[in-house]
Amino acid sequence: MKLVTCGLPYANGKAHIGHLRTYIPADVYVKYLRMMGEKVLFICGSDCHGTPIVVNAEKEGISPRELVDRYHEHFKKVFASVGIEFDYFGRTDSEYHHEMTKNFVKKLIEKSYVYSKEIELAYCPKCKRFLPDRYVEGICPYCGAVARGDECDQGCGRYLEPGEIKEPRCKICGTKAEFRKQKHYFFKLTAFRDFLLEYLDKVGGTENALNYARKWVKQELKDWCITRNLEWGVKFPGEDLVVYVWVDAPIGYISYTREACKNLGCDWEKIWVEGVKKEGDIKWGDIIHFIGLDIVYHHCIFWPAMLKGVEFALPSAIVASGMVKVEGKTFSKTRGYVVWVEDDYLKSGFNPDYLRYYIVNYTSHQKDLNFSWKVFMDKVNNELIANLGNFIYRVTYFAWKNFEGDVWSFNVKADDSVIKAVEKARNEIVKAIKNWEFKIASDAFMELASFGNNYFQSKEPWELIKSDKEKCAEVIANCLHIVKALTILAYPVLPFSMKEVAKIIGVDEFRMNKVNEFEKIKVLKKPKPPFKKVEEEKIEEMEKLMIDRIRKADEKTVKYVTIDDLSKLDLRVGKILRAEKVKKSRKLIKLEVDIGNEVRQIVAGIAETYKPEELVGKQVVVVANMKPAKLMGVESRGMILAADVEGKAVLLTPEKEVPIGSKVR
Ligand code: MSP
Ligand code: ZN
Repeated sequence: MKLVTCGLPYANGKAHIGHLRTYIPADVYVKYLRMMGEKVLFICGSDCHGTPIVVNAEKEGISPRELVDRYHEHFKKVFASVGIEFDYFGRTDSEYHHEMTKNFVKKLIEKSYVYSKEIELAYCPKCKRFLPDRYVEGICPYCGAVARGDECDQGCGRYLEPGEIKEPRCKICGTKAEFRKQKHYFFKLTAFRDFLLEYLDKVGGTENALNYARKWVKQELKDWCITRNLEWGVKFPGEDLVVYVWVDAPIGYISYTREACKNLGCDWEKIWVEGVKKEGDIKWGDIIHFIGLDIVYHHCIFWPAMLKGVEFALPSAIVASGMVKVEGKTFSKTRGYVVWVEDDYLKSGFNPDYLRYYIVNYTSHQKDLNFSWKVFMDKVNNELIANLGNFIYRVTYFAWKNFEGDVWSFNVKADDSVIKAVEKARNEIVKAIKNWEFKIASDAFMELASFGNNYFQSKEPWELIKSDKEKCAEVIANCLHIVKALTILAYPVLPFSMKEVAKIIGVDEFRMNKVNEFEKIKVLKKPKPPFKKVEEEKIEEMEKLMIDRIRKADEKTVKYVTIDDLSKLDLRVGKILRAEKVKKSRKLIKLEVDIGNEVRQIVAGIAETYKPEELVGKQVVVVANMKPAKLMGVESRGMILAADVEGKAVLLTPEKEVPIGSKVR
């Protein structure tokens, strides 16, 4: 039995198109495997713990459990509506999961992989509490971006340990945090370095994820703090702490497997404890995790080490998708670059198959996927409808109209070129699925549809029906063979539409083995086109909805300043006297700038757009009361203003020469 899992959605907000990048390809994968006759268990469930849930519940004035109840049901409903069929969808705030997690952690403790240590933690003196994870905001110590608690989600994407964040502030009240000591528990991740390198060398899945993980293991493996100051979560044995959400969440894969097995009569221990084979130090399971690139660290580093620590079987593959963008911009719920699955997509009446096709077919699974409504319309109207839908409808309608759906009273035989085209598509799909190439798989059935259209066109059955009905029947029989193949081959991507086509042509099971059989396919009832056109007006409406949302979000984040604020800046016109590159730096130039009453040394990040010699003599705008700072060890006293053109600096200078030291107002 193969186990396929998906990154567990936080029961913390509604389902959006970013989520679907994990769940739809996984569902497509499972549907193909089942068509190939594999036994697969497909599980998922809510991730119910962690500070984002507690923070949001607090904001709404409800309990974390109430918040989780709401979104757990929401996800279940949305998944069913878009055709994602988990065998089990659990929750981590359930009794069975707490028990599984506690046992797991106890085992790690027994095996001496856990130790305690006093650490300095961010503490809010006003709220009088420690600030775990999302309760704190500050600066990423690695890249300088604004970071939230346990991750640098707007910068380098690194996982951040408690206490690591610089300039911490309390997320609730905004107060500057202090550091206080407290005892916490650590998992000896560093003990697994060699194991992880070997594992990451051998595990299957997408190379993008594995490459990141290998680099991280080599460069910056640290022991991992696994406890938090929170009420909501799985209690850490013997302490008034809970385990970090990233400890208990992946254990959810195991507890959900156990629950699923209770219902379906399989054996969870065979899957997670026994495994399928041993290879040196590694006990392999037949376990495949689908995730997004944002949670590679947790799945490729923490999780395998934890499993190894308790001597469980290890995942055989980690399949990570690229991230979703919306209309070319980084996905962001707060900034409005989002498509909500229920409120935007489903409520507008779009066929869920269209979105499934978009997500699978837009680009390779490993690359970033841009969702744009215009592209969506194009893909539906020009690909699904003009190619696949057109062929299926054309053939079935022709057969219905001219043969009452039955061409088999004539003596017809299979056309070699048709048999080969079908076989080719099938083989390509089988191969692509094994390589997590969902785009290639979906391209393969679309190519078969193109082949079908060309075949139909070149055989001119509308002429043959008048001159040679038997020959015409043979053409249609071959076309129906293609229709049947398409119905099956496209089913995992387009389950709702292909089930309808299957009813029309009397296909009652979706099996890969059926694809090549030249069966007596009949059209049993009056066919209708499998897809409905997406109207331009509707797309404009969707775009407007998004633009309005982005504008509203912008308004919310605008920070107005007053004259008083502005007058705090001492802006003056200065003239560059000397300029030279800062040694060993790609970006920095050291300037000497005359600002009227003095000559200032200023370091500016402009070496990518300017050569030092071009700068001498230029008049520039200087922030004269900038706090002095050192950049690459060189003192800088002031800042010069520049336009930011895709990361490159273009200096601002007065429109005509002015006296040096002139104030800028
Ligand atoms: N709860 C964690 C996963 C725990 S797994 C033991 C989590 N939840 S999530 O709700 O944020 O994301 C759920 C899934 O959706 C993850 O696989 C994640 O990678 C994926 N995506 C969420 N937003 C995404 C994009 N914008 N783009 C692509 N996939 C992303 O992470
Ligand atoms: Zn960072």
